[in-house]
Amino acid sequence: PHPVPDLLSPEFAEDPYPAYRALREHTPLLWHEATRSYVVSRYEDVERAFKDKAGQYTTENYDWQVEPVHGRTILQLSGREHAVRRALVAPAFRGTDLREKFLPVIERNARELIDSFRHTGTTDLVDSFATRFPVNVIADMLGLDKADHARFHGWYTSVIAFLGNLSGDPEVTAAGERTRAEFAAYLIPVIRERRAAPGDDLLSTLCAAEVDGVRMSDEDIKAFCSLLLAAGGDTTDKAIGSLIANLLAHPEQLAAVRADRSLIDRAFAETLRYSPPVQMIMRQTAEEVTVSGGTIPAGATVTCLIGSANRDGERYRDPDTFDILRDDLGADTAFSAAAGHLAFALGRHFCVGALLARAEVEAGVNQLLDAMPDLRFADGFTPRERGVFTRGYEALPVRFTPVPD
Ligand code: HEM
Repeated sequence: PHPVPDLLSPEFAEDPYPAYRALREHTPLLWHEATRSYVVSRYEDVERAFKDKAGQYTTENYDWQVEPVHGRTILQLSGREHAVRRALVAPAFRGTDLREKFLPVIERNARELIDSFRHTGTTDLVDSFATRFPVNVIADMLGLDKADHARFHGWYTSVIAFLGNLSGDPEVTAAGERTRAEFAAYLIPVIRERRAAPGDDLLSTLCAAEVDGVRMSDEDIKAFCSLLLAAGGDTTDKAIGSLIANLLAHPEQLAAVRADRSLIDRAFAETLRYSPPVQMIMRQTAEEVTVSGGTIPAGATVTCLIGSANRDGERYRDPDTFDILRDDLGADTAFSAAAGHLAFALGRHFCVGALLARAEVEAGVNQLLDAMPDLRFADGFTPRERGVFTRGYEALPVRFTPVPD
């Protein structure tokens, strides 16, 4: 018998990858009592659950995972209702809207943050850049008043704490519920203003969106914006930190990216495979489902371990090696950052913001590399990732030659 890893232990939070390997090899289907869920860890099983060609899975689990803090979001929707909601929101995050309206917002926000520390010669890139940049971008895309950005950040922190509260700390739960009320009290009046006087911002776009005669209510838009805090903030934040750390830890790959900036896209894709910000996603079974290692009954919660699937040796050669030039990512497609890994999920709920995230990473990393030609880890710093549900660097102290103002 093989010891079954405890997914809520401190060792697991420190480094889940040995436990993931043990699960894939010996217990590809695990009943996990603490989360009352069946855990799947192999690439083929996670991929099949996300694609869900046979309609065996639902996202009912989000009714209790995200409903208390966000309300009813696109994640909970299914069938035609979900398809219409995707069609209502998705165009704002790709194509001309992304290129013409939001790319300048992304570039400007990256520049403003980097200008705030480039003269210092030393900074914690997680604190000064990664945790701020994506949330600033979302607030700015929505067209919120700059004076409100600090409150927006406060709500972001509270929402993230709520979603990461695996042990169910009642104070964190209560704070998340308060945030839901405060966020609504703030945003609903802004939504009403935009309906009356539309601008060029994301909020106005969402107010005006119409598909097959369907439009979003104030509450729908508020819930979507609340979801954006977590879905677009905590994820991209961690991806940027991990990408920079992975490159700094592999100087020859960093040199290649510096010389050929088109490789940022591959570095992003490989970072998403090697260090996925969202380590696990849950689903609910609509019927009995057969996976590696057995069957899962109908009505059960299934934890799909993205972090494990992305390191599956049956899918990737040398899976524990970070290699931006690996040829098994399928990175030659039009949108390579989304190819060849499960970090954005797949199928109906595939990340709406994948192209936005890619544009943020491209702009942010390009500008960081330009501003800091000799970027390196601070002396004596050993990079360390943390987190079970979402995972990334808590700190990333770096040094570089300061650029005078
Ligand atoms: C969905 C990851 C960036 C908005 C998802 C899902 C994953 C994911 C795994 C699927 C959830 C599920 O199937 O249950 C990521 C990662 C990101 C990122 C790793 C950054 C590297 C963003 C950004 C936005 C965003 C920047 C902002 C627009 C969404 C939305 C959904 C989603 C709205 C729900 C889609 C649906 O239910 O149809 N994301 N995401 N994400 N993401 Fe992202």
